[in-house]
Amino acid sequence: MHELDASRVEPYLQTQRYGRSLRALDVTGSTNDDARADAASGAASGHVVLADMQSSGRGSNGRAWSSPRGQDLFFSIVDRPAVSLPQLPPLTLAVGLGVAEAVESVVGTPGACQVKWPNDVWLNGKKCAGILVETSALGSTVESVVIGIGLNVNRLEFDEELRDIATSLRATSSERPPFDRPLVLAKVLFAVEHQVDRFVAEGPASIVQALEPRLAMIGERAVCGEIEGVVTGVSSSGALLMRTERGVVEVHAGRLMPLPA
Ligand code: BTN
Repeated sequence: MHELDASRVEPYLQTQRYGRSLRALDVTGSTNDDARADAASGAASGHVVLADMQSSGRGSNGRAWSSPRGQDLFFSIVDRPAVSLPQLPPLTLAVGLGVAEAVESVVGTPGACQVKWPNDVWLNGKKCAGILVETSALGSTVESVVIGIGLNVNRLEFDEELRDIATSLRATSSERPPFDRPLVLAKVLFAVEHQVDRFVAEGPASIVQALEPRLAMIGERAVCGEIEGVVTGVSSSGALLMRTERGVVEVHAGRLMPLPA
């Protein structure tokens, strides 16, 4: 039996839908691709594809997601939310909020996690998780979304280019034994399902309100796409707010990068 088998996850599940159908793989290219194929074949809302290692893990903006064997979590959730395509982008913030809550409960440190708009979760100021949401739509009707989550759980060594910016749950204390990945997965699925369902039922404003105390880079100079300024918050519709020379502007897409003060 493999450490990440469905039979190891199932006893911990407290969800309604997420993870109730689960395909655990030893190695795959990208769980987002597998989940998208399963969604196209009719997988139910909540179906999860999980892998111990990815050979072509994808991040946002065409970057790779480091996915070595045996330590972390790489998984993708199929959902079929009842929202139209234009309303969908803040879903990523709901997922980030859920991941942040779950990580804090696992490491036992309230307030340790922040969400960096739009798709990073930070632990003690470094990135511990990334979210990649991919959508299948017909016109403005969303048929399915794949919510891909990479969470650094037990990794203690990072490649040179990640060393200063990445962390893991276990790296918060060198004394810690490895975390039980099936238990961590179940906690993340529970919190993410709750926040995604809340987003669908209540819209983005309640997610943004809950996220506010956890937003990273508030008051810091940054650039996002073409826009340069100071990060001031997130609008009730989920857009990034930046104070620029032209006043406060809403930014709807792009990678937020810090600038020297
Ligand atoms: C980012 O921060 O750039 C997003 C990273 C998303 C990584 C996860 S790992 C599971 C799923 N499969 C992928 O290929 N990517 C996502």
